[in-house]
Amino acid sequence: MPQRILVTGGAGFIGCNLVRHLLERTDASVTALDKLTYAASPAALDGLPADRFRLVVGDVADAGVVDPLVAEHDAVVHLAAESHNDNALVDPAPFVHTNLIGTFTLLEAVRRYDVRLHHVSTDEVYGDLALEDPQRFTEDAPYRPSSPYSASKAGADHLVRAWVRSFGIRATVSVCSNNYGPWQHVEKLVPRQVTTILDGGRPRVYGTGSHVRDWIHVEDHNAAVLAVLERGTVGETYLIGADGERSNLDVVRTILRLMGRPEDDIDLVADRPGHDLRYAIDASRLRADLGWRPSYDGLEAGLRTTIAWYEANEAWWRPAKAATEAAYAARGQ
Ligand code: NAD
Ligand code: DAU
Repeated sequence: MPQRILVTGGAGFIGCNLVRHLLERTDASVTALDKLTYAASPAALDGLPADRFRLVVGDVADAGVVDPLVAEHDAVVHLAAESHNDNALVDPAPFVHTNLIGTFTLLEAVRRYDVRLHHVSTDEVYGDLALEDPQRFTEDAPYRPSSPYSASKAGADHLVRAWVRSFGIRATVSVCSNNYGPWQHVEKLVPRQVTTILDGGRPRVYGTGSHVRDWIHVEDHNAAVLAVLERGTVGETYLIGADGERSNLDVVRTILRLMGRPEDDIDLVADRPGHDLRYAIDASRLRADLGWRPSYDGLEAGLRTTIAWYEANEAWWRPAKAATEAAYAARGQ
């Protein structure tokens, strides 16, 4: 197990949960590198032990910052990214900068200093499946990204695999489905709807609401990332998913029910342009090779704790809520 781990994007949703996970489950010291964009939650890193954790503010696409930092570590987990599809449809430029140039910059540093890399990717790189298709994504699925965000992530994955083959860097890739849990920005489906309901409003679902996502709690994602870092085979790709396929309407109705509101209190709003229909992950390799299992018993169990977290942490999400809703309103969503 690496003893000095650099987590890029360590102040983001998955990153801040991963930093805590690594500090709790391993003896490693952890550095978070984060540009602190609108999506970051530096508050999530408050109070962590100063002898084992530090936050470095910087751009993953800046070799002047990345190079010396990578040289000081045994492993890098790369999460830094622009992550929200709706934003990429308004302005894709930061997605190309961070997701492509940032990944390239990091790859050159791990090549130079021979540092182990784990690259965190998304099931969206495979494009979408038909609603009635019995198939799920496997490690062999062809790359067919359909949005500016997923295309930038797909490009980053290709760069990682090319650096493995051409330069022999020691890298693994994981491809995960939709995460939910504490510290997720209110722009994303689950926290947007939970906080809207807490404010007495009606959830807003795009199009018909029949689009399907495959949900996993962020803790289960991060446990899988740690398993790959500890026991994964260099050069391999692992798909991470918890068999949590649900339509968006189904997810939002469940949230409404758990929060004591009528399940049909929903507004159907303008659809996302190019909206991917369905994602679904087959995580058999991860289960068979690394023995990983999700700890949450289904989406409803995870949603209960997530709703309770947002109820208890209004001071954290409140400042972002109004601006996020104003941006959605401008798009009729
Ligand atoms: P997030 O948007 O919550 O966090 C991203 C973090 O990266 C933020 O803290 C931001 O400040 C930082 N960042 C952005 N640009 C940067 C730059 N140029 N330099 C340094 N830091 C920068 O995203 P997330 O949901 O935590 O996703 C993390 C990673 O996991 C991403 O690579 C994403 O593609 C991937 N992923 C996310 C999900 C999901 O459902 N959220 C699922 C699968 C994969
Ligand atoms: O699949 C993994 C991906 O999941 C990650 O790579 C992305 O970083 C992450 O943002 C997420 O992408 P999605 O676009 O699937 O997530 P989002 O939360 O934006 O939307 C989930 C679904 O809900 C999608 O079909 C759009 C829909 N939606 C979203 C919002 C915010 C609504 O119907 N209403 C909403 O208000």
